[in-house]
Amino acid sequence: DPIPNIRNFSIVAHIDHGKSTLADRLIQSTGGLSEREMTEQVLDSMDIEKERGITIKAQTVRLTYPAKDGKTYILNLMDTPGHVDFAYEVSRSLAACEGSLLVVDASQGVEAQTLANVYHALDANHEIVPVLNKIDLPAAEPDRVKEQIEEVIGLDASNAVMISAKTGIGIPDVLEAIVTRLPPPKGDINAPLKALLVDSWYDAYLGVVVLVRIFDGTLKKDQRVRMVGTDAVYQVDRIGTFTPKMVSADVLGPGEVGFLTASIKEVADTRVGDTITDERRGTTDPLPGFKPAQPVVFCGLFPVDAAQFDDLRNAMGKLRLNDASFSYEMESSAALGFGFRCGFLGLLHLEIIQERLSREFDLDLIATAPSVVYTIKMRDGSEVSLHNPADLPDVMQIEEIHEPWIRATILTPDEYLGGILKLCQDRRGTQIDLNYVGKRAMVVYDLPLNEVVFDFYDRLKSISKGYASFDYAITDMRAGDLVKMQILVNEEPVDALSMLVHRGRAESRGRAMCEKLKELIPNHLFKIPIQAAIGGKVIARETISALRKDVTAKCYGGDVSRKRKLLDKQKEGKKRMRQFGKVEIPQEAFIAALKME
Ligand code: GTP
Repeated sequence: DPIPNIRNFSIVAHIDHGKSTLADRLIQSTGGLSEREMTEQVLDSMDIEKERGITIKAQTVRLTYPAKDGKTYILNLMDTPGHVDFAYEVSRSLAACEGSLLVVDASQGVEAQTLANVYHALDANHEIVPVLNKIDLPAAEPDRVKEQIEEVIGLDASNAVMISAKTGIGIPDVLEAIVTRLPPPKGDINAPLKALLVDSWYDAYLGVVVLVRIFDGTLKKDQRVRMVGTDAVYQVDRIGTFTPKMVSADVLGPGEVGFLTASIKEVADTRVGDTITDERRGTTDPLPGFKPAQPVVFCGLFPVDAAQFDDLRNAMGKLRLNDASFSYEMESSAALGFGFRCGFLGLLHLEIIQERLSREFDLDLIATAPSVVYTIKMRDGSEVSLHNPADLPDVMQIEEIHEPWIRATILTPDEYLGGILKLCQDRRGTQIDLNYVGKRAMVVYDLPLNEVVFDFYDRLKSISKGYASFDYAITDMRAGDLVKMQILVNEEPVDALSMLVHRGRAESRGRAMCEKLKELIPNHLFKIPIQAAIGGKVIARETISALRKDVTAKCYGGDVSRKRKLLDKQKEGKKRMRQFGKVEIPQEAFIAALKME
């Protein structure tokens, strides 16, 4: 049965189109918070989210809205992350609602993430209300953007709501549209409890907090519940809703969104997408559940100062508490010492974790070049998942190497199209589609993720002067002609610099790396060859010439204390040096070499 007084909705938008500003306006105009509490954007709660203006963790807020029809409605706004790396979090938040507001910046129009996010909402069978934001801007072209929405997405935009989330224009119309144009949830209050585990996080005071959406039945305080997926049973301590402050409640019924706590020890005990039901009277019809996203991008993180290793381990443990999609295992490298090999959902996820480690935990880190996850099919029929190119098994035993591919959607002003097509082509891309969205070109390419993890995004931004938008989704694993390229310094392989590359790109990558290292490694008393090699075959080579004079030579016969000083200085420098056979390589050289491309 429909529950007529509730609406559950989310807001989907491209980054910066005004999702958070609109959410804040909705909270403010329905009185969820005082003026003072509204001073900061509420939904983006993590510092980094605020600074970068992006939303990472899904949040929710319950609004009370007296509508024009004289009835009072409960509106549950589920916030969703705006970035593709968190597609999994997006999909589970969307599964908890019946409709979406599609926010498009009327001065920018449809962008790559607008498309990606609206497709997620359509997949979740959402009713969608288009909302054109920023109509206060002189550059706003609402009619053109309406056309785009109809042409590109195929949604009727004739009655799109026109707003300025910044000035407040049109906010009452948004609230009315939510009530009149989005469907109410359906559910049976007498059926056994069926609730979706939408999200969970660790709270210092309450322990693990679980965000739930009730589909059938009721959730009460003290009820004993079972998680269908893990088969664990808990007694509910506390339930309630977010206004967005946590407010306790005695019961949550069908269609409602709220939280529960139940002395659950770890976030890892809660499986997002799981069905929560009554211990004794279980539902016979659990929700489909979700498959958690697997990390696809890996990199090594090492403390610059070896003494910080334990701090790094602790910090990672803490981050992992609230982010089960981030993984790490210990790694040791001759070049970089002890550290961790870490797995991420994508590049943005990597950047966020790296930034949190250095900012919140004050750690000085070296990150190795990111690589992707490879599936190695062995001759004996077994399969290995490879997270670190340095661990590649003996090539004689390898049948095939498979790498992840993505489907990328890029929207760009026409004048940059040529450069972007060339970039995609250079990165082993296959063009799937080329279309026009108003005055902008929309290109769809299949690309190996391996070619995107280095600097694709930076290159795209620089080619398009920042105007192109980009989004991608992992599609499949495909066999590739991939080889392990090693870098040898004075005939010694340097593990931190080995990488898997496509055979066709190996030579240019190898040459670039050798040239770079030649500049970075100081002269020694002997000649040092730097080579890039595949198997035993050298594909690129540079030589660092021998130093002619001893550094102390100029002090001979001179002041002894000056000579001593010079030697001490050298010694100090040595601490930051790594020894490879007879060669010392400064740590900075690795950092610079790994940043390459
Ligand atoms: P993510 O959290 O990254 O997804 O971004 P967002 O979509 O939440 O964007 P946000 O609400 O942070 O707004 C982005 C920028 O646009 C901010 O600088 C806002 O002040 C500005 N902005 C939002 N709405 C309006 C509007 O109606 N008019 C104008 N002129 N600026 C707006």
